[in-house]
Amino acid sequence: MKAMTPSSPQRPAGVAEIVFEADTIAAAVARVAAEIARDAAAEPVTLVGVLKGALFFSADLARALPPECDARLDFIVASSYGDSHRSSGEVRLLKDTSESVEGKNVVILEDVVDNGLTLQYVRGLLASRRPRSLRSCVLLDKPYRRVATVALDYVGLTAPDTFIVGYGLDYQEKYRTLPYLARLDDRVFE
Ligand code: PRP
Repeated sequence: MKAMTPSSPQRPAGVAEIVFEADTIAAAVARVAAEIARDAAAEPVTLVGVLKGALFFSADLARALPPECDARLDFIVASSYGDSHRSSGEVRLLKDTSESVEGKNVVILEDVVDNGLTLQYVRGLLASRRPRSLRSCVLLDKPYRRVATVALDYVGLTAPDTFIVGYGLDYQEKYRTLPYLARLDDRVFE
């Protein structure tokens, strides 16, 4: 396998700048986890991570909940970006939840909300199944190009107006596994 040429010891080629370091992400995850646990009170909560992007966010947030919080973890797979850095505007459901959400306190976990169409679609889908409550939690809010009006109950960080990768976010399936959130060099898109 061909190795990426690093532009610095920590950064792969194409990464222009780290926007949020791993410790900043961890602090944001801990804060929203505490908010979710507070609002759940003593009731069980079902976390529904939206893959692939929310993979690491879901895993870290679930483990940041206090042990007394009765949390279950489920996933859906949805995609709208394909290989582009612009949304197709059409959300495709590639995998549904494993368990029924009917009557449950559901919190949707998204890595990023940009135009909002993915979260609008997922909210609509889960709301139609009559959960007891339905909230949305996003690690990274990008409020600059919103098309859909979506309620964000928990927000970890607000992104600058640029394309961000890392910590689950990809460009053409690359950069997802970076432990930080980073801005890509514009030349990557040429
Ligand atoms: C990304 C991200 C969100 C969605 C947000 O998913 O994980 O689910 O886009 O964008 P929006 O608010 O503009 O709809 P993507 O379609 O790239 O699939 P992925 O999670 O598999 O990377």
